[in-house]
Amino acid sequence: MIHEDSNSASFYVANEIAELIRRRQKEGKMAVLGLATGSTPTKVYDYLVKFHQEDGLSFKNVATFNLDEYYPMQPDSIHSYVRFMNEHLFDHLDIDKKNIHIPDGTLKKEDIRAFCDAYEQKIADLGGIDIQVLGIGRTGHIGFNEPGSSISSKTRLVRLDRVTKLDAASDFFGEENVPQRAITMGVGTIMSATRIILMAWGEGKSRIIKEAVEGEIRESVPATFLQEHPNCDYIIDEAAGSLL
Ligand code: GLP
Repeated sequence: MIHEDSNSASFYVANEIAELIRRRQKEGKMAVLGLATGSTPTKVYDYLVKFHQEDGLSFKNVATFNLDEYYPMQPDSIHSYVRFMNEHLFDHLDIDKKNIHIPDGTLKKEDIRAFCDAYEQKIADLGGIDIQVLGIGRTGHIGFNEPGSSISSKTRLVRLDRVTKLDAASDFFGEENVPQRAITMGVGTIMSATRIILMAWGEGKSRIIKEAVEGEIRESVPATFLQEHPNCDYIIDEAAGSLL
């Protein structure tokens, strides 16, 4: 779905999330959200904060699972996705902290496998992700599932692609400071969500969006796997959709 600009598109996505939360409230159930970091979803989070503060939308029945975190990473680092999520979203909501899940960048290497398995289990215990929000990286990664990730991959420790590190270099004041690794939900984890919303803004994303939407389904562009999902929407602005 091509929107005029990222603002109206983000409003649309935030409304869909708010509707899910309200529906689940009526049912007396948790709404389970899969969340992304990066610049792409920030306006959606701004709208969700606005809905909470101005319209009284409660997040007490919301559980969240973030896609990924750099490894190693301390939660109070300016680069951490924990900090990003707190600043952009969680600190401004009435969400119960115990319902927030983000891959832990402080784990010892030997504890990562068990953590990742438990992450998958927690998602399953809550009945799976209702809405998974995604951005897309220049390599066609979703979460940090870089080229070569299989469609059935689960939450795990991965090595970041050179292109991804280059894209993150300015945030980290130099490529050499970008972590080599990350913990990410797998493509399979993402594909199990009931609904997926991939967002992309700006001309810089137009090539990879064309590839993701129209390209042959293949491991070298993990976002192409989303073509096989029965309920995935690409919510993009005109610039990101300019090559379609
Ligand atoms: C990072 C994140 C991805 C995100 C991508 C795009 O690599 N791990 O989840 O989709 O960046 O970032 P941006 O939204 O800033 O373009």
